[in-house]
Amino acid sequence: MFFILLVFSLMSFLCDFHVSSCDENCADKPVFTPSRLVVKHGDPTSATCSVKNVYDIFNLEKSLGDLKTNGTEILWKVEKMTEWDMFVMCYYELADHQCCSTLPITVYKPPDNVPISFRNHSGPLLEGHQYTLQCEVHNVAPVENLTVTFYRGQTALGQLQSNNTEKKPVTEIFTLNINTSKEDDGVQYWCVAELELGPEGPQPPIVLSSHQRIRATVLYKPQLLVPPHPDRITITEGSPLQLNCTAVGNPSPSYTWVLPPSSLLPSNSNVLTIKSVASEHGGQYTCEVSNKVGNVTVMFHVDVEGLELTSTKLPPITTTSMTTTTPNSSTSSTLIHRFIMCFMLLFSVVV
Ligand SMILES: *[C@@H]1O[C@H](CO)[C@@H](O)[C@H](O)[C@H]1NC(C)=O
Ligand SMILES: *[C@@H]1O[C@H](CO)[C@@H](O)[C@H](O)[C@H]1NC(C)=O
Ligand SMILES: *[C@@H]1O[C@H](CO)[C@@H](O)[C@H](O)[C@H]1NC(C)=O
Ligand SMILES: *[C@@H]1O[C@H](CO)[C@@H](O)[C@H](O)[C@H]1NC(C)=O
Ligand SMILES: *[C@@H]1O[C@H](CO)[C@@H](O)[C@H](O)[C@H]1NC(C)=O
Ligand SMILES: *[C@@H]1O[C@H](CO)[C@@H](O)[C@H](O)[C@H]1NC(C)=O
Ligand SMILES: *[C@@H]1O[C@H](CO)[C@@H](O)[C@H](O)[C@H]1NC(C)=O
Ligand SMILES: *[C@@H]1O[C@H](CO)[C@@H](O)[C@H](O)[C@H]1NC(C)=O
Repeated sequence: MFFILLVFSLMSFLCDFHVSSCDENCADKPVFTPSRLVVKHGDPTSATCSVKNVYDIFNLEKSLGDLKTNGTEILWKVEKMTEWDMFVMCYYELADHQCCSTLPITVYKPPDNVPISFRNHSGPLLEGHQYTLQCEVHNVAPVENLTVTFYRGQTALGQLQSNNTEKKPVTEIFTLNINTSKEDDGVQYWCVAELELGPEGPQPPIVLSSHQRIRATVLYKPQLLVPPHPDRITITEGSPLQLNCTAVGNPSPSYTWVLPPSSLLPSNSNVLTIKSVASEHGGQYTCEVSNKVGNVTVMFHVDVEGLELTSTKLPPITTTSMTTTTPNSSTSSTLIHRFIMCFMLLFSVVV
């Protein structure tokens, strides 16, 4: 048993020999041209390895492809890249050590599609709740070079990267939490998947966006558009009265007015209009704005300053005018009085 294990470990040691004992920091390393390969899975590719001198042992280890050696150069060629984790190492041996270089190879595959959706949710959203957007990137390699960006309209919300180092194609779901507000009603969410493969990669770089965007419908309770009004509204009889409780909401809100008992027709409008206010229009007006999400109530207290009220105020004015005439009348009456007195005196003298 132990012997078998020993043989196995010895075999694996020998197989890994070039790799494990290879010095990548030696002087005069073999040089690859190009120095880095980015290959689409299924495409052909090639590279050459060259050394400065002729060595007895000068070779190339590979997991795929054919070699052509010519003096100090080795040409490595692949008709069709069928591996995901490609290994290519070029080395030469001197008496006591090896000197080698590995060729960095990235084998990529663009994602098939990038659908976006809300996680575990369909239909309209509710204001003030948290939802999770999910962007699925199907069948992409290498996922570690993938960047996913979520957008709300034209605004980037966040960028995510995978920490999966799998070289083979994978499907990964990227998620982003969002909090809804009424401003989100009608906006579009979408995501973009980008394979960042550097200057050796495909130009322009591979960018795939979710082909359907999701349009968010956010339901929210009525919100008043009118500024707050004073506690009491005083209005003179005969003037027009307009009470405004306009609000926005999704779905569109409906209005119910509760009017003072003596008042006229019930209303379902956002603005209540009375062309000419009469005394019986005074009192408390309640406007309830509601939709299926919630409601908001506005109260108006209307005081009607009636015309009778101004006429009852008038008498003090007439009484003051009478008091002002009193001195006049009194002077005139004293004048008459004096005239009579004078006449009587004259009469008595005559008599
Ligand atoms: C080997 O390389 C030399 C010079 O680089 C070239 O002239 C010659 O044709 C090559 N031979 C083969 C078989 O590729
Ligand atoms: C939410 O969705 C995920 C997959 O999209 C699923 O695994 C999970 O069970 C769901 N959770 C609920 C609460 O439905
Ligand atoms: C990255 O790895 C950490 C720890 O393994 C994990 O918690 C995290 O969710 C991973 N991130 C992504 C985007 O998968
Ligand atoms: C959403 O709201 C929760 C709680 O109100 C908060 O913890 C979280 O940070 C918010 N997320 C975003 C993306 O604003
Ligand atoms: C791919 O991602 C890895 C890890 O983030 C990085 O080291 C590497 O340079 C990237 N490859 C390319 C071609 O950009
Ligand atoms: C009611 O208020 C809204 C919002 O402030 C305004 O747009 C509208 O013109 C007003 N209506 C009337 C009749 O004053
Ligand atoms: C208005 O909302 C309150 C709670 O916020 C609820 O009790 C009431 O029934 C609602 N009224 C209408 C007409 O929907
Ligand atoms: C009454 O007095 C006012 C001023 O006090 C004067 O202008 C007016 O002419 C007087 N009228 C009579 C009838 O005396």
